[in-house]
Amino acid sequence: MEPIDKIVADAAGAFDAAATVPDLEQSKSRFLGKSGALTELLKGLGKLSAEERPKAGAAINEAKTRVEALLQARREAILAAELDARLAAESIDVTLPGRRQSSGGLHPISRAQETIERLFASMGFSVADGPEIENDFYNFTALRMFPDHPSRSMQDTFYVADSDKVLRTQTSPVQIRYMQSHEPPIRIICPGRVYRCDHDATHSPMFHQIEGLWVDEGISLADLKGTIMQFCRAFFERDDIGIRFRPSYFPFVEPGVEIDMAWERKDGRTTYLEVAGAGVVHPDVLRNGGIDPEKYSGFAFGMGLDRLAMIKYGVNDLRLFFDNDLKFLRQFR
Ligand code: DAH
Repeated sequence: MEPIDKIVADAAGAFDAAATVPDLEQSKSRFLGKSGALTELLKGLGKLSAEERPKAGAAINEAKTRVEALLQARREAILAAELDARLAAESIDVTLPGRRQSSGGLHPISRAQETIERLFASMGFSVADGPEIENDFYNFTALRMFPDHPSRSMQDTFYVADSDKVLRTQTSPVQIRYMQSHEPPIRIICPGRVYRCDHDATHSPMFHQIEGLWVDEGISLADLKGTIMQFCRAFFERDDIGIRFRPSYFPFVEPGVEIDMAWERKDGRTTYLEVAGAGVVHPDVLRNGGIDPEKYSGFAFGMGLDRLAMIKYGVNDLRLFFDNDLKFLRQFR
């Protein structure tokens, strides 16, 4: 074998023996590196005669090309083998249970609120909003709950120290704010959080109300009755709901009523549950809202959203709504 063929054969053997790409690079330098076997041969060309030189040069170059091809082939083989090994090691077990994409859901209170907004919207009501940190004036005085009036003590209020601010105890102040900034006809509901210093199975320090207000020429208690009955039938999805309007007192309405809903209990007896306070808006309240009571009249109501949701979904403890227990909440998804 010519020495040059031996070099090529040695390179083939060394490359085959290399198991990794770094090993291969190491072997490469033995043949193609600065003092590699082929490089040394090239350096020796100068010692040859002018006739011998081109032939020897061509032979060395050809050998170099072959060694480079061998090197490339081996490099590709090593990389392919490494990829195969990795794929085999990382194989996916398609029989494993998949990871669930868990989807959230609306809180039952939000769900009930959305339903209520939709139903009132279908009766021409729009949705209004007001601050939860309210002035004493809007929360009480403008609604004829004067500082020395006993009706104030009906609502266990969170007062903000050294200020005229309170956490609103009711959504009724939105009536005043809305009337001050809008002309009749006014037809709004205002769903929102309210706060009272109360805590038991049917009271929570934070709860939700839906205020309603309809002011126009000739609005009376009859309109209140019709609106509430239509709403209750749609919300509870039954036509046979008995609704009772009981005389009651709220300083901002005259006459005032409490609205009870008949509810068929499991034992067949009928009971009544209070769902709202309401009445015909007091003329002074219209005046406080900048509306002329000689021309306009209106009705207002304040419903307990949490209580409506309790009845609709059959929940017997108000606090369940606010405990954030997923076992409870998931039932409403
Ligand atoms: N704001 C009253 C409360 O929280 C409920 C209420 C009663 C609202 C009569 C009204 C109303 O708009 O007319 O107890």
